[in-house]
Amino acid sequence: MSPLRPAEAIEQALGGLADKPHVAFTLSLLGRPGSAERIPTPAAVIDLAAFDRNVAKMAARARAAGLALRPHAKSHKCAALVRRQMEQGAVGICCAKLAEAEALAAEGIGHILVTSPIAGVTNAARAARLAADLPDFRIVVDHPDAAAELAAAATAPIQVVIDIDVGLGRTGCHDPEQAAAVARAVLAQPSLRLLGVQGYGGNWQHLEGANARASAVAAGMEKLTAAIDAIRTAGGTVDVVTGGGTGTFTADAAQGVLNEVQPGSYAFMDKEYRDALKADPDGAFEQAATVVTTVISANHPKWVTLDAGLKAFSTDGPMPQPLTPEFADCTYRFFGDEHGMIGRPAGHPVVRGERLALAPGHIDPTLDRYDLLHLVQDGVLVDVVRLEARGASQ
Ligand SMILES: Cc1ncc(COP(=O)(O)O)c(C=O)c1O
Repeated sequence: MSPLRPAEAIEQALGGLADKPHVAFTLSLLGRPGSAERIPTPAAVIDLAAFDRNVAKMAARARAAGLALRPHAKSHKCAALVRRQMEQGAVGICCAKLAEAEALAAEGIGHILVTSPIAGVTNAARAARLAADLPDFRIVVDHPDAAAELAAAATAPIQVVIDIDVGLGRTGCHDPEQAAAVARAVLAQPSLRLLGVQGYGGNWQHLEGANARASAVAAGMEKLTAAIDAIRTAGGTVDVVTGGGTGTFTADAAQGVLNEVQPGSYAFMDKEYRDALKADPDGAFEQAATVVTTVISANHPKWVTLDAGLKAFSTDGPMPQPLTPEFADCTYRFFGDEHGMIGRPAGHPVVRGERLALAPGHIDPTLDRYDLLHLVQDGVLVDVVRLEARGASQ
């Protein structure tokens, strides 16, 4: 199977990274039969066909429900994967931070909603520049002063979405009166265009049981509807009603309040979502991203040591889940910064050099630990792409 792009194009897109010895070695593997088995580990590996199926499935679900799909790019921070999502009908992407948006805008991604409020004149100036440069830039606001800051920085119209707290308590207007006050502040600024509202319930996404998620969404959508009414009464337009994630898609579609959804993890999945969603339709996505590790020491009678530890996975969610069938019943444990441990499986004599694929506990912060994503199809390394917005938390 040949690589997706000419080797020179891949090398050029990787910039200085391509000169690193381990990356140069990796690039020499492109397109070779069995090359997936030779990628230096620990490595973030994407099963491209599974990723594309996940992307197509969510696009079809959104289309069938009449919802615009704006995937959250915080999960992968990678322009090449954004383009694949947009080719399947995504209307744009979400970014959590301005720096994430700036990095992806520099790669030619033009339709971006920043889903976190910002504060301060420097950040307002950065948002104003994105608004002036991109064909469709949007940003949430949750305070009247944010509207004033953005307007003071604007060199072209800035599209804003009022963030509503639907139960998480992290950001957003806490009650309809606050939402109306923000709407009035936006409407007072000729350089701002009010598009609508965002209501994201991050705390609902991993609730176990479709009914529990549906009840949480129903209560949150009541808050969102009250805020929308208050904004309209204040004279504001609410055309866009955006929110939702992988875990609440079914409930969001059933409630019919949102007209745009922002799922991110569905494209890859992780152990945390598997544990929560089990066989629910919201969890019917394939494990498209894995961290591949190698057994580097196999001398102990009870366990073997892997080359992936605390620096290879985020540590906030459940433990990574071994997917390689021989190890499916074994438990991975962190064994220090650079190492992991896994018990010897019954009936399988593990050898030094053996490779294992693990599903990350929590996908977003895990992928953020890697410079590169290795795109693999039928055991062949077909592309290597950067996470251009990796570490872009400013
Ligand atoms: C505002 C917002 N929208 C959407 C998402 C996507 O959620 P998920 O990855 O659970 O699909 C997130 C994730 O944290 C988020 O913060």
